[in-house]
Amino acid sequence: MGQPEAIVKVVVPVAGMGTRLLPATKSQPKEMLPVGRRPVVQYVVEELQAAGLNQILFVTGRKKSAIEDHFDADPELIRTLSAGGGYEMLKELNFTETDASFFYTRQSTPKGLADAVYHARRFVGDSHFVVALGDSIIMSREGSSFVQDMIATHLQSGAACTVAVEEVNPEDVYRYGIVKPKAGMEDAQDFDLEDLIEKPRVDTAPSNLAIAARYVFSPAIFKAIGRTVPDRNGELQLTDSIRLLIQLGHRVRAIRLRAGERRYDIGNFESYFKAFIDFALADEKYGYLVRQYLKRKVREF
Ligand code: UTP
Repeated sequence: MGQPEAIVKVVVPVAGMGTRLLPATKSQPKEMLPVGRRPVVQYVVEELQAAGLNQILFVTGRKKSAIEDHFDADPELIRTLSAGGGYEMLKELNFTETDASFFYTRQSTPKGLADAVYHARRFVGDSHFVVALGDSIIMSREGSSFVQDMIATHLQSGAACTVAVEEVNPEDVYRYGIVKPKAGMEDAQDFDLEDLIEKPRVDTAPSNLAIAARYVFSPAIFKAIGRTVPDRNGELQLTDSIRLLIQLGHRVRAIRLRAGERRYDIGNFESYFKAFIDFALADEKYGYLVRQYLKRKVREF
């Protein structure tokens, strides 16, 4: 097989039930919860487009139609705003005028992340592709795109899979998929993986490098998913499928988030609240006021 062509396809799984964010997610997708001014999934799509990914497949499920509506043009709203002179607000809708193509498929039962990715196999065909979790924002450094760097590393190395990783507090490893770098590569910016483990125990974790919501795959991942054994909850874990890729003899790599790059995962209330505060503080118009308010509050503690 020759050098793969540039990657333009991305799969965004958004079919999970978001149980950790109930009742906020009872009837709306967690990926539509606002962080600052925009819903989480809008940041994700903007990040992917900045990386040159313009064919976007959402793997959706029940109660997720708000996502489809969000990325669709709304002529009635545009007419109303135009007639009322709401030009500032009209600018906020520019994101729907994009040359990206959106596709949707349904995972009727959320049987795990690997199962969600498996739903993309016809869309992907025989090209390499990106997977970006719809509930996690990656902040790149000003003027750069982390996902674009991931893609470049992936294509250059000829790997079957490249995962983003970030350092987490060693006491928190049990919440994440944790990677084991090949011996001698532990300190490198990007490196080969010997193994990876979903939610390890703190005392047996092979590192404190957690998989950070972005992946690049070759179509070989579908064969590995097909052979993955469900976990004790009956779900197919993507970490287990990647582990299988290694066992099948494929090269799997990881690339670290660099200083100034950050992952915001909104899967639980603690991380959601922190993400909201950071984005509100960084808001061009209201950041200053929020900062003043927080300073006052802190003095009251
Ligand atoms: P999570 O495991 O964090 O989401 O998946 P969840 O299952 O919705 O969360 P809880 O545990 O019930 O609170 C990360 C991303 O993968 C998607 C989710 O929608 C989320 O964006 N996902 C997860 C799927 O698309 N399908 C699945 O079967 C599981």
